[in-house]
Amino acid sequence: MRARTVRRLTEAGCIFAEEEARLLVAAAHDERILEEMVGRRTSGLPLEQVLGWAELAGIRVGVRPGVFVPRHRTALLVREATAVCPPGALAVDLCCGSGAIGMALAARVRRLRLHAVDIDPAAVACAARNLSGLDAHVYEGDLFGPLPAALRGHVDLLTANAPYVPTSEIDLLPREARLHEPRRALDGGEDGLDVHRRIAAEAPAWLAAGGHLVVEVAEHQVPDLVGILGRAGLSARVVRDAKLEASVIVATATPLLAR
Ligand SMILES: C[S@@+](CC[C@H](N)C(=O)[O-])C[C@H]1O[C@@H](n2cnc3c(N)ncnc32)[C@H](O)[C@@H]1O
Repeated sequence: MRARTVRRLTEAGCIFAEEEARLLVAAAHDERILEEMVGRRTSGLPLEQVLGWAELAGIRVGVRPGVFVPRHRTALLVREATAVCPPGALAVDLCCGSGAIGMALAARVRRLRLHAVDIDPAAVACAARNLSGLDAHVYEGDLFGPLPAALRGHVDLLTANAPYVPTSEIDLLPREARLHEPRRALDGGEDGLDVHRRIAAEAPAWLAAGGHLVVEVAEHQVPDLVGILGRAGLSARVVRDAKLEASVIVATATPLLAR
């Protein structure tokens, strides 16, 4: 069964056919299900959407077709967010997608109180499933729009892995992303930072004094985003991880400006 699966995946152009076959065979309860899964994978669906899960920072996150697949590089955002997040913190994860970041944070931070937002109903449904059983609320809407007003000025940690691919680069993405992830999850506008500009403008009003905003972007966008965050009154620190090929900015609300 495994050898045949490897062969079919290889013929379909899967680079990691051996590893993918191992995961698919382990996930399928019988040959009929395996056949279906291999068919979906060879038709181009991302492996994680076929399996129904992706791994982020050691956590298995449920994902569904049509929902952004969490990337391994986002482990850096999780690491940096955890480092500035005390037990019992009030956290907001904007652009939450599957809820992956919130899940990973809740596994690391005791008594985390989480609010997660996404604009896409499919992502919201997925996040609601993944975050059920935690101290978490999931909202559908545009950035801060659906959050309870009572959170203003009290958020200890704001995380956002928002879309950051410049529009002109969308066509250069791998087929799997272009065809099977929503454009709204990827397209960040002309320079990739449209959503970040809006987050930076509103973040100071939502953060508690000394609270942190943690965002991920591509390395070439770091200088521009540091400038945007600075002009919004946040003091930014850049963290890079060469192994994960990831860049994260931790922006802190100064006591005077946070309101
Ligand atoms: C790059 S994906 C990241 C998902 C998740 N944070 C992760 O790391 O796996 C970006 C997400 O932002 C959401 N999104 C885009 N624009 C939004 C907006 N204006 N308000 C809320 N969510 C938005 C998309 O629906 C998508 O789920």
